Amino acid sequence: MIQKYVYGHPFPTDAVVKEIETAKEPLPFFETDNQGSFTYTLAEDDIVYGLGEQIRGINKRGWQYVSWNYDNPNHHEDTRSLYGSHNFIIVCGKVTFGAFFDYPGKMEFDIGYTRRDTMQIKAAKNDLTVYIITGENEKDIVKQFRGIIGRSYIPPLWAFGYGQSRWGYKNEADIREVAAKYKAAGIPLDSIYLDIDYMERYKDFTVDEERFPDLKGLAADMQAEGIHLVPIIDAGVKIEDGYSVYEEGVEKNYFCKNAEGGDFVGAVWPGRVHFPDFLQPEARDWFGKKYAVLTEQGIDGFWNDMNEPAIFYTEDRLADTCAEIEKLTAGNMGIDEYFAFTGMVAGLNGNIGDYDKFYHNVNGQMVKHSEVHNLYGMNMTRSANEALREICPDKRTLFFSRSSYVGAHRYGGIWQGDNKSWWSHILQSMQQLPALNMAGFLFTGSDTGGFGCDTTEDLMLRWLQYSLFTPLFRNHSADGTREQELYRFSNADAAGNMIRIRYSLVPYLYSEFLKAALRDEMMFRPLAFDFADDADAKQVDDQLLLGNELMIAPIYKQNAKGRYVYLPEEMMLVRMRSDEDYETEILPKGHHYVPAELNELVFFIRNQKAIPFAKAAKNTAETDWNTVRLLGYSGCSYEMYADNGTSPNPEDSLTVSVIEK
Ligand code: NOJ
Repeated sequence: MIQKYVYGHPFPTDAVVKEIETAKEPLPFFETDNQGSFTYTLAEDDIVYGLGEQIRGINKRGWQYVSWNYDNPNHHEDTRSLYGSHNFIIVCGKVTFGAFFDYPGKMEFDIGYTRRDTMQIKAAKNDLTVYIITGENEKDIVKQFRGIIGRSYIPPLWAFGYGQSRWGYKNEADIREVAAKYKAAGIPLDSIYLDIDYMERYKDFTVDEERFPDLKGLAADMQAEGIHLVPIIDAGVKIEDGYSVYEEGVEKNYFCKNAEGGDFVGAVWPGRVHFPDFLQPEARDWFGKKYAVLTEQGIDGFWNDMNEPAIFYTEDRLADTCAEIEKLTAGNMGIDEYFAFTGMVAGLNGNIGDYDKFYHNVNGQMVKHSEVHNLYGMNMTRSANEALREICPDKRTLFFSRSSYVGAHRYGGIWQGDNKSWWSHILQSMQQLPALNMAGFLFTGSDTGGFGCDTTEDLMLRWLQYSLFTPLFRNHSADGTREQELYRFSNADAAGNMIRIRYSLVPYLYSEFLKAALRDEMMFRPLAFDFADDADAKQVDDQLLLGNELMIAPIYKQNAKGRYVYLPEEMMLVRMRSDEDYETEILPKGHHYVPAELNELVFFIRNQKAIPFAKAAKNTAETDWNTVRLLGYSGCSYEMYADNGTSPNPEDSLTVSVIEK
């Protein structure tokens, strides 16, 4: 059952697409002060799941989180905000229920932080809609929630292949080298990503003619090898006379305004930029149609970045800061002045005050950005998705975004942002998956190998052993860090084997993805969602159920030669060195120490289940679905969902077949 409660005058976020009548009975579970604050008393053993992209464990209890989309490259344990806001939680324990706080501004979730037994949720203003969902269990609550927020985005099949990315590929030769070296190493590859350097001075929808003189030719050559090029698009539009996107946006009033009615100016990669007003349908349509500049050159996938929107600085804050610094440095700089100086400089980037300085035109009303901040990234991806469905009506285009809100899951996937080459970030990414799935984000994954900092070949290999299960499987790293294309490492053969295993698993992963999307279910679940009465399963936060057949338990510790794994039922352990070299063993329910050498992938097939496993191909287009056989328990079958991988509506080509072992 879903009950809807409206407080004040909520801004229409478009998160919920189903009409629901406002409830007549009083709000259950929570006490509210009618000032935007909602309080719930937590029982000793209550678990709180959810909040989408937020980090700090699968059970969110014990910390305070802030929904405020933020360009935050520090995914530390004490982080309160990342790039997306997904205000959906499930309280599980004394009573079990779900709650969605549909509010597009800043919102705090104190989940047993101030007081261990109290959850206090607070919106900046009392203008929000609250949905309370009760059901049979957590899975049922999620299904009902997903039913009201609309079907999750389904990418083309090729997006399930392996992708190589790096902020640092500077020209066509760099891209050709990556493709050639992967080929020479015999490592499958489906996509290569173009970061900001492909553009002419970071201007959206331009291509630098010196560095990429023939993008169309390059894209065609890559397609001939089965490789898709995926360029980045940033939110900020460079202010530059003669640049048509800038000039049209100014002329048509499609940019966000400052308090005086002029176009608001921020600074990001291109320098001074205006931000498209993605809350205006006309501006969305205009910006979205610009993607055609690239689709006309053979591009069929995009990643949208810096769309919180990230603001490195605003000119007036920079001027004020410089003036203050001048004062500080006029005399002898003491320690206090030094810290004031570093604090002011660090405070320029993403300064929360800057988001009060610009406005959206919503049906002629000027709405302050900070009040609807968390909707910006979602509407950028919506702009691309809606326009591309018109421009390329016959096929699916790959989209994923950095920033998001509930509802963005209908328009694209998201990647988990600027993580680091840290062992702990393998675990962190895995712990984000269930709550992202709860909020509808199925197409997701981390920067494999780590974005910031220097990776190592063992970290990369272990990360691959985790990421090869995630729908988005992309190796991405930051400029200036150690290069991490797999062929650079002495263990490239082992890494190649992991990639080939991924390709063997594509039929299973794609099938489970389709099922999750079409049935409003989660692809990745905490163990306790399926084993509700198992006290040990409730404690496990470094293993996940994947679809209905698998359990994953990745290794995320340096030099580890194995790990402890909890089996909530009898399962089949699979130990794979390559798609052709593996053994299996049945293990009883309980706690086990499972050895796994660096080159060995270990995962588990659930009791009396089996998964489809294909012959590895050099890219998804070459997957031979006729080679699919079942791996797992004998005498059981698997229901496989498949489609042609391209038709905009998967139902048009959907096949459901039962494979018997
Ligand atoms: C920030 C993004 O999160 C990262 O993935 C990208 O490489 C840089 N921007 C540069 O575009």
